[in-house]
Amino acid sequence: MKVQSTTTQQDDHFLISNYDYKSTNIEKNGDKYIAKPQITNFKFKTDTRIPKLGVMLVGWGGNNGTTLTGGILANKFNITWNSRRGTHQPNFYGSLTQSSVIKIGTCNTEEVFVPFKDVLPMVNPCDIVFGGWDISSMNLADAMNRAQVVEYDLQQKLRPYLEKLVPLPSIYYPDFIAANQGDRADNVIPGNNKLEHLNIIRKNIADFKQQNNLDKVILLWTANTERFCVEDPNIHGTAEKLLKSIESSHPEISASTIFACAACLEGCSFINGSPQNTIVPGVIELAEKAGVFVAGDDFKTGQTKFKTCLVEYLVGAGIKPKAIISYNHLGNNDGKNLSQESCFKSKERSKKTCVDDILESNKVLYPTEEELNIDHTIVIKYCPETGDSKKAMDEYIAEIFLGGRQTFAVYNVCEDSLLAAPLIMDLLLLCELFERIQFQKDASEYQRFDTVLSWLSYLMKAPKSESGITTINSLSRQRAMLENLVKVCAGLTIDDNLRLEVRYG
Ligand code: NAI
Repeated sequence: MKVQSTTTQQDDHFLISNYDYKSTNIEKNGDKYIAKPQITNFKFKTDTRIPKLGVMLVGWGGNNGTTLTGGILANKFNITWNSRRGTHQPNFYGSLTQSSVIKIGTCNTEEVFVPFKDVLPMVNPCDIVFGGWDISSMNLADAMNRAQVVEYDLQQKLRPYLEKLVPLPSIYYPDFIAANQGDRADNVIPGNNKLEHLNIIRKNIADFKQQNNLDKVILLWTANTERFCVEDPNIHGTAEKLLKSIESSHPEISASTIFACAACLEGCSFINGSPQNTIVPGVIELAEKAGVFVAGDDFKTGQTKFKTCLVEYLVGAGIKPKAIISYNHLGNNDGKNLSQESCFKSKERSKKTCVDDILESNKVLYPTEEELNIDHTIVIKYCPETGDSKKAMDEYIAEIFLGGRQTFAVYNVCEDSLLAAPLIMDLLLLCELFERIQFQKDASEYQRFDTVLSWLSYLMKAPKSESGITTINSLSRQRAMLENLVKVCAGLTIDDNLRLEVRYG
């Protein structure tokens, strides 16, 4: 695709697009709103040179880590496999960037769609170099077998590639994850000195980058859900305080926060795929100083994605959700870890906040704070027999016209990691792309996006935002935001769905 427009320029290195952003400024005058439409000029500059990308996963030997690595290798080497349903080809189903499409315009009256990945130059997932850490020493072939996610025949075909991949020893603070994980922790950096731990992880990153001749590296936490650290401004509040607390090996510094600090100090962006509060203010300051991004928290895969769709639909239709009761049972190692109350609490928090802004937006349905406090209950049970095939059962009770009730009972069954792996890939590819984009507002200096990369909220259960910016959980708004951003950067027109060119020529 090539954009021909007077507002877009392209040379060998950069694509620059001029964009008049239309918004509406609202002033309150007593009980009246005064709406003042306005236009602000933005310029987006995208570096079109694709870097050699390395990714280091924390928790590489887990279900997500092995499924992602193996899935990408299957695509890279076009490995087919057999099951009782026949022969299968590898694909990237479930990946926004690889398998979804974006409307770029109309040809006569026909709408034209292209793959998301073709709108701006993006890294090909098959070119990513993977590495990482795990507290379990198993090579990735054995770890994939332990995970019981991927079909047996594909596991066998991937074995020659995966058995050579062995996770680096990791930091293990048993107090932060469930006690039942202790029996797999045979690949642990010794000692209790947190500063030494930080320095070892930093060295691992630098070595990985150099040995693989990489242009950049991104770190992603897909290790077990930790309990929340007890956040304290004196411990975590600034970069300086955080580094001091690491130096004194403070007990409230989690392993995930050490990884986040190491990433920032090595000039790498960091993504938190679990719900815990890894990205404390000191980490954000470190990232800001290093000019890298942080993003989190907790991958938004099946149940929560659906929840943010359904609740948006109900509230958008003027129907009032009054209760959401979510049961999950799962039998993988994630479920085992979440069976400990402290770790479950982290997950409960991120699962519970995901509809708040959707309800808050509608003051007709929810005129008071009290009414916003709907029954939203989260239950997670560990049931080993279920394996990675997670069952999610949700009941939505809503109030309709004249005091009536509408109830949805939703049953969702899926292999958790087969949803998470393509989503992790999208997080990495989009984060890398956003590192190459700068913008200019009203002819000011070019700047990069905010340190907390809330553009990725579509992929996050509890999206972290820059301070002062409200979080958007609605799935369609999150997706539109991403789609529109790449279109604007490419110089394409944003679709307002009026379709006037089709209706009236
Ligand atoms: P898993 O339990 O199979 O994998 C986690 C891996 O992390 C294990 O291999 C474990 O040995 C390792 N680990 C634990 N502590 C570590 C440390 N300090 N350093 C390095 N490695 C460490 O879990 P799974 O299914 O891969 O999920 C990973 C994370 O992603 C979990 O926190 C889960 O809650 C989160 N998540 C998963 C979703 C999914 O659909 N699979 C959705 C949303 C979040």
